[in-house]
Amino acid sequence: MGRDFYLHLLLACLSIAQWNSSALARNSTGSQVSSRSRHGMGIKGQVLHRSKRGWVWNQFFVIEEYTGPDPVLVGRLHTDLDSGGGKIRYILSGEGAGTIFVIDEKTGNIHATKTLDREERAQYTLMAQAVDRITNKPLEAPSQFIVKVQDINDNPPVFLNGPHHATVPEMSNVGTSVIQVTATDADDPSYGNSARLVYSILEGQPYFSVEPQTGIIRTALPNMDREAREEYLVVIQAKDMGGHMGGLSGTTKVTITLTDVNDNPPKFPQSVYQMSLSEAAKVGTVVGQLKARDPDVGENGMVTYSIIDGDGKDLFEITTDSQSQEGIVKLKKLGMDYETKKSYSLKVEAANVFFDTRFVSRGPFKDTTTVKISVEDADEPPIFSQSVYFMKVNESAPAGTPVGQVHAMDHDLGRSPIRYSIEQQSYMDRFFIINAQSGVIKTTEPLDRELTAWQNISVIATEVNNHIHTSRAQVAIKIRDINDNAPELAEPYEADMCENANAGKLIQTIKGVDKDESANGPRFTFTMAPNQNFTLIQNSGHTADIKVRRGAMNRRKQEVYLLPVVISDGGSPLLSSTGTLTVRVCSCRADGSVQSCNTEPLTLPAGLSTGALIAILTCIIILLGK
Ligand SMILES: *[C@@H]1O[C@H](CO)[C@@H](O)[C@H](O)[C@H]1NC(C)=O
Ligand SMILES: *[C@@H]1O[C@H](CO)[C@@H](O)[C@H](O)[C@H]1NC(C)=O
Repeated sequence: MGRDFYLHLLLACLSIAQWNSSALARNSTGSQVSSRSRHGMGIKGQVLHRSKRGWVWNQFFVIEEYTGPDPVLVGRLHTDLDSGGGKIRYILSGEGAGTIFVIDEKTGNIHATKTLDREERAQYTLMAQAVDRITNKPLEAPSQFIVKVQDINDNPPVFLNGPHHATVPEMSNVGTSVIQVTATDADDPSYGNSARLVYSILEGQPYFSVEPQTGIIRTALPNMDREAREEYLVVIQAKDMGGHMGGLSGTTKVTITLTDVNDNPPKFPQSVYQMSLSEAAKVGTVVGQLKARDPDVGENGMVTYSIIDGDGKDLFEITTDSQSQEGIVKLKKLGMDYETKKSYSLKVEAANVFFDTRFVSRGPFKDTTTVKISVEDADEPPIFSQSVYFMKVNESAPAGTPVGQVHAMDHDLGRSPIRYSIEQQSYMDRFFIINAQSGVIKTTEPLDRELTAWQNISVIATEVNNHIHTSRAQVAIKIRDINDNAPELAEPYEADMCENANAGKLIQTIKGVDKDESANGPRFTFTMAPNQNFTLIQNSGHTADIKVRRGAMNRRKQEVYLLPVVISDGGSPLLSSTGTLTVRVCSCRADGSVQSCNTEPLTLPAGLSTGALIAILTCIIILLGK
């Protein structure tokens, strides 16, 4: 700084009340606090209520939001060179110069022409200069200074995020922090109390409180119970000016929900539950439901059921329906019988699945109740003494032969009489008849084992008192064999032999068959009338060999031999029949192969075949043999 140059600063008053034009006029010409340097430009000003702050040489102050009729005088530039003759011109440049701030170039008075808003712009940097009015030569070096916009409390506290939602567990200790709400105030926090906020609670007492300085909301009552009331509306106010009268305020709403803790045990509303079930119920049948009340929610209200005692604990089971939280009693196994036990009881326990150890001292988180199940009589169908009956009857037994007896009974209290019948399934059913009262089964005609060895029928028992109730049983009837079939040769054998065959040459092996069972069947004995030309040798099986007894037969002498063979079985009574083996004598080659046989061995009457002839001969032989 060069030579003496004073900037006379008129400080803005703090109180709006002082901002009337008369006060301004008085101030602009009134007391000036001088603090000059020996050389260079000086700033003269007055400090009213700002004694705490250090003097800043190059600051002007102007209060925001001034809306008086005249422009506000911000301050005055002055240089000692100014003798008042109007030789000096003051110039203002920089931020807002000429628009917001105008200077009287003769007096150096600076006025603000507009209403200023600190929250919009807090300060302006300007440049002051004093020049010779005629030569325009600078008399001083330019000097920079600042116009500060001084805060007034023109902004209320504002809660930015809201309304708020917060939760806190029920039964929380007093003073448990729930949520912090914060308001902001656009006014100058570094000056005055315009931005000094104090929080208070307008709604929500006595349940909650707020910390005045921090805005932290805390619980204020012990044992707040969610099951009694779940939701609270809290209104918090923030007030500036340190909460004092005249301050501006803003509010916010906080909805506080108590969250559940497991502070309630499950409880059965009834000490006894009555249920009933038919004795005929199937395994898995639901007997009934019961539910223990637990006002807690979610996991805390989850209950499991179990049967802990009772004479029915082996017959019944209880499961937990996770949806409805009900205990479902079901039949676990068969064994109920109305006729022997008419009721059962169960001791059922409902217990919380999850615990809150803080509340264990309140007692066990479970409850018990009694379930009484009465057994209902079921009208059950009759029951056969056996599900399958095995019976036997001789084949060929005369009609009306008893085969066996079935028996069924109604086990119900009524003891209905039973009627029996044969189920009509197939043609076999007509071979038997059942006595409707006694259950005795008889044949209706002689049976042939060789036709059907088993006659399996189904019998029905019906309750006379209730025809719907019927039961069935199988009756397997074996037809016993008797020796009613004679053995026979398996076929009408015809054999060729060479006329030059040696003695002992096998001509034919013959086989017998018998329709009866082995006891009355194959143990055949073959016999042949003594014959000088052929022999019969009995084999161990069902066969016999026919061999040549005497060698060198002459076919010119006799070409065909008919050999009657008697075949008998080992049954009782012994049965037998006679079959015939036809042997033709043929001429053979040297190697033993047949060369020629007479196809028509005998001169027969026209129209009579070999088979017919054989049949006739056989008859004759049989007649002779008898
Ligand atoms: C009849 O029952 C018996 C014994 O159960 C069985 O062996 C036989 O095969 C059955 N017969 C028929 C035709 O069902
Ligand atoms: C045996 O064969 C001779 C002739 O070859 C015959 O005369 C005789 O009657 C035969 N005997 C029998 C029992 O057929």
